[in-house]
Amino acid sequence: MRVGVLTGGGDCPGLNAVIRAVVRKGVRQHGFEFLGYRDGWKGPLEGLTMPLGIEQCRGILPRGGTILGSSRTNPFKLEDGVQQITDNLARDGVDALIAIGGEDTLGVATKLADLGVKVVGVPKTIDNDLSGTDFTFGFDTAVNIATDAIDRLHTTAESHHRVLVVEVMGRHAGWIALHAGIAGGASAVLIPEQPFDIEAVCRHVEARFESEYAPIIVVSEGAVPREGGDMTLVSGEKDDFGHVRLGGIGDRLASEIEHRTGKEARAVVLGHVQRGGTPTAFDRWLATRFGLQAADAVAEGDFGTMMALRGTRIERVPLAEGTGELKVVSPEEYAEAEVFFG
Ligand code: F6P
Repeated sequence: MRVGVLTGGGDCPGLNAVIRAVVRKGVRQHGFEFLGYRDGWKGPLEGLTMPLGIEQCRGILPRGGTILGSSRTNPFKLEDGVQQITDNLARDGVDALIAIGGEDTLGVATKLADLGVKVVGVPKTIDNDLSGTDFTFGFDTAVNIATDAIDRLHTTAESHHRVLVVEVMGRHAGWIALHAGIAGGASAVLIPEQPFDIEAVCRHVEARFESEYAPIIVVSEGAVPREGGDMTLVSGEKDDFGHVRLGGIGDRLASEIEHRTGKEARAVVLGHVQRGGTPTAFDRWLATRFGLQAADAVAEGDFGTMMALRGTRIERVPLAEGTGELKVVSPEEYAEAEVFFG
């Protein structure tokens, strides 16, 4: 059997660990041959391929990024996109596909599976917002990077008696902000799921200064103020899946806090630092186990499925379960962090 592999959407630490595990298990235990598709769905769409075997996977386990490249290409935006993909798969002699991606990449996989393409999915995103799985790989690395940044910012904020606002990724879901905020001892965590009250944020800032410490406010890029959406700077630019580019909430928030409290405030945007570099041991472990399971799913002809972490077990769920609805932070989970605000 010849199996194509692609990685799509925003890259994240652990993608290479999945590719390595898929290839090792596929070649050694199932006798598969592999073909790498470059740059997400652009690969099978435009016939962009690269050799993929055990040789190409040597040394990649701890490496961030993806040896296959990535893109946010959406084949369903093209009239004949699906036809081009099925033609290229047939031309390349590819019998099945393993798609590694987040809501968009796996959303495409879900639709292709419905159209009869033999595809299995592996969930990835630093945002951890895919349903069906307890965690996605990449998230743990991003949380550790953000927590390390918060730890560092505490000491400089205290030296200067300043407010430090840390903007983290998270378009629709505040998982990174919540976990890093709890781990880093933030004075407030602002997430897209819970529109924030700027007055309450300022009260937390003042309360923290009263206790002789300096406040750290962690904010997801997609967080919105309760009174209206004018604090999230949107560039207006949209990707193939219709997502706008977010950013700027950290700066806006810092100047608003400074204006309202009279305390000096600075913003730090962690941005793509959260997606780069070497994966944590947890993410390597999770990504590897997803890869092993994906190779087995192909061998068993269990197409239209997505690999999922349930407790400590790797299970297979229908692709639609992972991509139907985003997994967001519940009010109860947010309330756990609120205990530490101020
Ligand atoms: O999809 C994950 C993500 O990290 C989002 O949180 C963020 O909005 C987006 O990627 C930014 O990605 P890029 O700059 O690559 O478009």
